[in-house]
Amino acid sequence: MLTLAPGLTYYPDYLNRPAQERLLQALREITRDAPLFTPRMPRTGKPFSVRMTNCGPLGWVSDVEGYRYQPMHPDTGRPWPAMPDQVLAAWDSLSGYSHPPDACLINFYEPSARMGLHQDKDEEEFAAPVVSLSLGDTALFRYGGLDRKDPTKSVRLRSGDAIVFGGPARLIYHGIDRLMAASSDLLPQGGRLNLTLRKVGKPL
Ligand code: SIN
Ligand code: FE2
Repeated sequence: MLTLAPGLTYYPDYLNRPAQERLLQALREITRDAPLFTPRMPRTGKPFSVRMTNCGPLGWVSDVEGYRYQPMHPDTGRPWPAMPDQVLAAWDSLSGYSHPPDACLINFYEPSARMGLHQDKDEEEFAAPVVSLSLGDTALFRYGGLDRKDPTKSVRLRSGDAIVFGGPARLIYHGIDRLMAASSDLLPQGGRLNLTLRKVGKPL
């Protein structure tokens, strides 16, 4: 592993190829029950270029009303599917936090999708880190500091890589500039999947 900044840890090749294939299969099953939806920007309703779904007790959604966590899929009204054991095991080994995550956001990037610089701050429990797993095409991940204007650096996240942001890095600005086309053959049509695991509520 590599410390990119205080609290920001990078684990290249955290999942080997068979583990990536197992996780992809679990995600296919999840999206059968909880299809990818197109989130929209609060107020303007402008669609994100990334599509999303979730697993676990809570899921992150965004629409004209704002950003929030909720227990139901916004289109089907059904509860989110359970988190796969493999995802829970990644949290246990990487988070250093003694309670399980209650949300796992699954982002799907078409080859042209991106995600602007933002902070993950819709949670109540900032003592827990965000654990992120990447599958498919390599992405240029940009990260900065706690102020949007702070200088940024970037790292390439490849299929199987994990990144953890906690402690002093829990609220850093981050985003995805772009994907590197055809950089992985894990997803037959190309593109990228990213999972972010979070503890949303304060532990009881
Ligand atoms: C996110 O910040 O929600 C996603 C980051 C990523 O796709 O690696
Ligand atoms: Fe984020």
